[in-house]
Amino acid sequence: VAGLRATVLGWGDAHRRDLPWRRTRDPWCILVSEVMLQQTSVARVLALYPSFVAAYPSPAECADAGRAAVVRSWAGLGYNRRAVALHRAAVAIRDEHAGRVPSARRELLALPGVGASTARAVEAFAFGADAGIVDTNVARLLARAVAARPLTRAGAQEFADALVPPGRGWEWNQTLFDLGAGFCRATGPRCGPCPLRRRCAWRRAGNPEPDPGRHTAGTTRPQGRFAGSDRQGRGRLVAALRRAPVAASGVAAAAGWPDDAGRAERVAAALVAEGLAVRGPAGTLALA
Ligand code: ADE
Repeated sequence: VAGLRATVLGWGDAHRRDLPWRRTRDPWCILVSEVMLQQTSVARVLALYPSFVAAYPSPAECADAGRAAVVRSWAGLGYNRRAVALHRAAVAIRDEHAGRVPSARRELLALPGVGASTARAVEAFAFGADAGIVDTNVARLLARAVAARPLTRAGAQEFADALVPPGRGWEWNQTLFDLGAGFCRATGPRCGPCPLRRRCAWRRAGNPEPDPGRHTAGTTRPQGRFAGSDRQGRGRLVAALRRAPVAASGVAAAAGWPDDAGRAERVAAALVAEGLAVRGPAGTLALA
């Protein structure tokens, strides 16, 4: 464990990516970035994070801006229900935590949109806690390099928490993200240049099949084709709603399915159920 820690931290000191959310210790900015990074690539978050935190520099300012404004500012990040959850979290922080992001895990987990990994990210990155963050990339890396067998979600979390070098939770977790993204990739892992190659259990065994990373819980998220999917129509409908409310008769066309009003209606109903959209008079759909 000592050798692994030293290798990871040593590589990180020299090569860790310089990202805007790594230059701050402000708990709100870190919460915002981690919610964005839950399901959006670093490249895309890089393009949108600066303007979002400039527009909503504190939980209170985000809460006061209102849900519709926050959903509009989320444009380009996808999975808009996260914007609704983040706004609700901002309201809870403003009203129940005197405007300050809590540092206790139990209170973080009670915030909308904050799960095990985002809560630990806030603990480690804002408050310096020795918490091990497990996202899909880190779970895959731990399964390959450390366990050399597939891990359950709980198993990966146990490894992650046990490995954090005391007092270095920030560097450790940020570096594991970079190793997961840069080397320990889901398909086509780059073991040759990987700084962990001499310590990686899977590599030392000669990369035997089955790949322990591929069978680790939560590491494979087969994300069906986007073209023709409900997500695509949903994205088009939300984009239209950002511009203006859509009349009931226009919902199918706005979703891109002029000949399938039933499907468009189901997608619209889901947006309403999730709190992203509301129905006005005569069934006009608008952002909530
Ligand atoms: N994915 C989730 N959190 C991240 C972070 N802080 N840096 C890079 N990728 C991440």
